[in-house]
Amino acid sequence: MNMIIQKLLQKSFGALPKALLVSASLLTMPLTAQASGGADLDHVEIDLSDTESLKNGAKVFMDYCLSCHSAKYMRFKRMADDLGMTDEEVLENLVYSDAKIHDTMEIAMPEADAALWFGAAPPDLSVVSRSRGADWLYTYLRSFYVDKSRPMGVNNLVFKDVGMPHVLWKLQGMQHIEESKTNMAYGKEKIEHKLVADGTGSMSTEEYDKTVSDLVNFLVYVGEPIRSYRESLGLYVLGFLLILLVLTIKLKKEYWKDVH
Ligand code: HEC
Repeated sequence: MNMIIQKLLQKSFGALPKALLVSASLLTMPLTAQASGGADLDHVEIDLSDTESLKNGAKVFMDYCLSCHSAKYMRFKRMADDLGMTDEEVLENLVYSDAKIHDTMEIAMPEADAALWFGAAPPDLSVVSRSRGADWLYTYLRSFYVDKSRPMGVNNLVFKDVGMPHVLWKLQGMQHIEESKTNMAYGKEKIEHKLVADGTGSMSTEEYDKTVSDLVNFLVYVGEPIRSYRESLGLYVLGFLLILLVLTIKLKKEYWKDVH
C-alpha cells in the first residue's frame, strides 16, 4: 500500500525531494501499528457474536485478572445482559467480591500499594484492546518466559521487563527462551527467539491458545460493548439505503416518463 502510494507520488512529482515522499509514506502508515519489541505478533480472530467464547473469556478474566486489574467502565449488569446471562448467574459464577450487579468492575487494591509491589500499577483494562490491539494482547499473554533476573522471575517477549507476573502459568506452564542464530550473507547473523513450554501446564498448547483467544475476545468486547449492535445496525442502515435507492430510481423514472 505504502509502496503504491510512493510510486504514484514519484510518478506525479518526479524529482520532488525524498523527504517529502518519506513523510507521505509515514502519514499512510497504519494507525494501529504498535511497538512490539521487535517480535512478530500472532494473529487472533475476534468474533463478538460468539457468546460461548465471550463467557469463557469473562470467566478467565474474573478468575485471573480482576484481582489486580479493574475494568471500571464496565458494569456486571451490562455484561450479564449482553452475554445472555441472568443476574444470579453472574453474581454466583463470576463475582468473587461483595460487588452488586450494578457495580462497575473495580478492584480493592490501592494503586500506590500495587505500584510498590510490582514496580508499576496494573492499568485499568477497559480499553486496553484499543490501545494495544487484539493481536498484541494475544501474543503478550502467550509470551511470558522464565527470567531469573526479574523481580517476578519472568520476562515477556513483547513487553520487555514487564512488572506483571505470569498469572496464567498454571494453565500454560512455564516457558524458556531459546536463541537460534542463522548465518546470513556477508557474515551477518540473524538471531531469533523461540519460546519452549516446559510441559507443566494443565492445558495443551491448543487449549491454552483457545483460552487466551477467548480472553482477548472478551477484552475486545469490554473495549466497545456496543460494537456488535453498531455493526448489525450498520447493516440495517445499508439495507434501508438500498431500498431507498431503488425507490428513488423508480420515482425518477415515473417523473421523467412524461418529459421524454
Ligand atoms: C498480580 C497482579 C496482576 C494480575 C493478576 C494480572 N496483571 Fe496484568 N499487569 C500487572 C502489572 C503490575 C502490570 C504493569 C506492568 C508494567 O508496566 O511493567 C500489568 C500489565 C498488563 C498489561 C499491559 C497493559 C499496558 O497496556 O501496558 C496487560 C494487557 C495485562 N496486564 C493484562 C492482564 C490480564 C489479561 C490478566 C489476567 C489474565 C492480568 N493482566 C493479570 C499485574 C497483574
